[in-house]
Amino acid sequence: SKTMNALAATNRNFKIAAQLLGLDAKLEKSLLIPFREIKVECTIPKDDGTLASFVGFRVQHDNARGPMKGGIRYHPEVDPDEVNALAQLMTWKTAVANIPYGGAKGGIGCNPADLSISELERLTRVFTQRIHDLIGIHTDVPAPDMGTNAQTMAWILDEYSKFHGYSPAVVTGKPVDLGGSLGRDAATGRGVMFATEALLNEHGKSIAGQRFVIQGFGNVGSWAAQLISEMGGKIVAVSDITGAIKNKDGLDIANLLQHVKENRGVKGFSAADAIDPTSILVEDCDVLIPAALGGVINRENANEIKAKYIVEAANHPTDPDADEILKKKGVVILPDIYANSGGVTVSYFEWVQNIQGFMWDEDRVNAELQTYMNRGLKDVKEMCRTHNCDLRMGAFTLGVNRVARATLLRGWEA
Ligand SMILES: NC(=O)c1ccc[n+]([C@@H]2O[C@H](COP(=O)([O-])OP(=O)(O)OC[C@H]3O[C@@H](n4cnc5c(N)ncnc54)[C@H](O)[C@@H]3O)[C@@H](O)[C@H]2O)c1
Repeated sequence: SKTMNALAATNRNFKIAAQLLGLDAKLEKSLLIPFREIKVECTIPKDDGTLASFVGFRVQHDNARGPMKGGIRYHPEVDPDEVNALAQLMTWKTAVANIPYGGAKGGIGCNPADLSISELERLTRVFTQRIHDLIGIHTDVPAPDMGTNAQTMAWILDEYSKFHGYSPAVVTGKPVDLGGSLGRDAATGRGVMFATEALLNEHGKSIAGQRFVIQGFGNVGSWAAQLISEMGGKIVAVSDITGAIKNKDGLDIANLLQHVKENRGVKGFSAADAIDPTSILVEDCDVLIPAALGGVINRENANEIKAKYIVEAANHPTDPDADEILKKKGVVILPDIYANSGGVTVSYFEWVQNIQGFMWDEDRVNAELQTYMNRGLKDVKEMCRTHNCDLRMGAFTLGVNRVARATLLRGWEA
């Protein structure tokens, strides 16, 4: 299943990295086991007066480098194994980004579309009551993920503050009116754009003049598309849950954004041709950006991919089989734990601003983000050189090595 793939692929990549680094076997085992796994029961009265029960999870993977950080998702298929894999990925991602955090992830098994706003608010408050003594500004700082948003974070902030006093830094991805950062909304997509430009520069190219295909036109995909087209990149095809469209002369992204706003999807955009959504990943282009789901690039389509570069905006879009196939084809893959780290990096800026009690303007946020993304690729490339490995393993060895060093320095004495 897809969820097994997430944990199996993450563990596999971690093990290869541990081998490349020559990590002590006991340290390796201790880095893999989560620090703490929380599972709580949340019962709320529904609007009709009946009771409904939900199970909430929080996996706190590692805190050697700082407070644990990661999203909370509301989804019917929240699965402890996948939450576990994503918590672990957050540990390596924050280390690659070189921000002072560990990794965590959480969720509630529910379908947010079936709940009213006030039911969602009650559920979020009950979940916060169950975990309030295990999260905190210097312990574990949640953020939005699938099915949650800035409003969810506002409710967590409010409920948490009843127990601990006003604490905006306990969550990130808040509404700007409650201490959210300017630029957070666009951050992951902007980070993808900076990462893509940095990678292409390494190869003597730039975004201008390259042809891009983007799968997923949500928060990350649409911001990436907008910023890449502003840089002179040509977006030749995009897809979302409603369908896929193509225009080999380049899509007009400003018009497409307007169309998506009015029609809730890319389907039916007039200045393009409809194409089969399953063919989006194998469309002719220079740079492919998967920005929707995990596991989409696999044994079945990897051989057919035409792109020279794949920038992983989604989490774990490429499975290990596809990694091997694409390596043989000479496709360069910019891995998720580096490429989509712009979101958590600006979350870190939000937390910093809350702790400072000072708000940065958006230009400062964007400039700092570019510095982090550029330095991130340099650090990854350095690991590729010293360990003679591809970018995925360069990123994994970078992240794992930073966490291992922090763990050893802190020591083992009980
Ligand atoms: N938002 C962030 O800050 C952030 C940070 C890091 C990683 N990510 C990852 O990026 C990916 C996208 O996140 P998002 O925040 O943009 O989510 P989103 O919900 O805003 O957008 C998801 C998009 O994918 C599309 N989609 C869903 N199923 C699809 C399918 N079968 N085929 C084609 N398109 C499909 C949706 O229609 C939508 O356009 C996820 O993998 C997420 O984990 C997001």
